Amino acid sequence: MSDKIKTLIVDELATTRESLKKLMESHPEIEVAGQAGTGEEAIARAKTLNLDIILLDANVRGGNGIDVIERLSVEAPEAAILVMSTQGKQEYLQRALLAGAKNYLIKPFDDTELVTMVRQVFKQQQRFKSVFRQGSSASPQPGKVISIISSKGGAGKTTIAVNLAVAFAERPNARVGILDANLQFGDVATYLNLVPRASIADAVAEGELLDEMSLETYMTAYNDRLSLLAAPNRPELAEAITGGNLKAILAQLKKKYEYVVVDTATDLNEITLSVLDESDAIVVLAGSDLPTLKNMKLCLEILQSLKYGEDKVHIVLNRANSAGGLSVQQVEKSLNLKFFATIPSDGKTVLPSINHGTPFVLANHHSAVAQTVFQLAQKLAPLEVSAPPKSMAAKVLDIFG
Ligand SMILES: Nc1ncnc2c1ncn2[C@@H]1O[C@H](COP(=O)(O)OP(=O)(O)OP(=O)(O)O)[C@@H](O)[C@H]1O
Ligand SMILES: [Mg+2]
Repeated sequence: MSDKIKTLIVDELATTRESLKKLMESHPEIEVAGQAGTGEEAIARAKTLNLDIILLDANVRGGNGIDVIERLSVEAPEAAILVMSTQGKQEYLQRALLAGAKNYLIKPFDDTELVTMVRQVFKQQQRFKSVFRQGSSASPQPGKVISIISSKGGAGKTTIAVNLAVAFAERPNARVGILDANLQFGDVATYLNLVPRASIADAVAEGELLDEMSLETYMTAYNDRLSLLAAPNRPELAEAITGGNLKAILAQLKKKYEYVVVDTATDLNEITLSVLDESDAIVVLAGSDLPTLKNMKLCLEILQSLKYGEDKVHIVLNRANSAGGLSVQQVEKSLNLKFFATIPSDGKTVLPSINHGTPFVLANHHSAVAQTVFQLAQKLAPLEVSAPPKSMAAKVLDIFG
């Protein structure tokens, strides 16, 4: 494949086309792949030539020039259109740019002006193509929504939600969103030591206009891989927010983020139920004290009646083996289930991390409690680790056995 700048010259006059061709081909990086005398001819050639640049005279026949630009940008979107025009036609040039031309040259122009412009437009087009390629190769799959619930307050929902989100954000090139759906008393921002300037209430106020882009403006960045959509800063602002609003917001978050972690309030209210509906995985946090166990049984019954299967509902014991609590086996027996994961009780690590607003998966990466959160992340959304490149010794063994 040629790496030259493939160009089509479009001008009514054959003599002009020939002199432009001569001029351009005196530069070895430019190849004149074809010529056309009318708009129709230009469109026919452009469709088959896989061009980089179309050098188009503004007075070309076949429409008013603008029509030709519009059709060329649809029929040959890979090519950048460069318009040649006489002075005093500013309005025309504006329309040409709006129709899809990338730039223009005012006649008369000299050799250097022409070639500089061709190179410049070509470079812009290459950059555009590479961004477009990156964009289109990005995963079109919606992100995974993981919500954390519990049947009793203080079970550790926010602690686990925050650390899980940060654990996901440690993955290479991860894009993670955390949504604080504990609308009245949400404290994810505090756990991350953030001061949000906007909240879910602002996003909801956008109504129908809310989209992926506008939602982004209400998010607070923790780092370049993790952003928070905070709970309203006043409990009364939560009143106007409905389950439908939560669904609409999650639909947008899923488009933007690979992982969306949702912290919830303890009540199984309309808000939480809407979150659960939109979730791919529900982490139900259990505890090892009797009141929690009683409520857990009720909670699991509700989830069953909602027809959420075992593939979606994951029961995780937090503060396993905490002093005075039942053993893991006793709790499993009482609930008649096996835990998806167990997280140890470790007040010495967890409490200071909350007070400093630094998640323990970062501050105490090697602690057992942090490691179990990383393992939980891996179980919920396995990260496929690509095989390391083979060493020379292994390659030699492959060849000689
Ligand atoms: N594995 C753990 N080890 C020790 N302490 C823990 C653990 N998990 C949570 N805690 C402690 O439990 C307390 C409550 O945690 P957290 O705020 O995360 O619970 P919650 O379920 O979000 O509460 P709420 O229902 O009020 O939203 C915190 O003080 C935290 O330090
Ligand atoms: Mg909480």
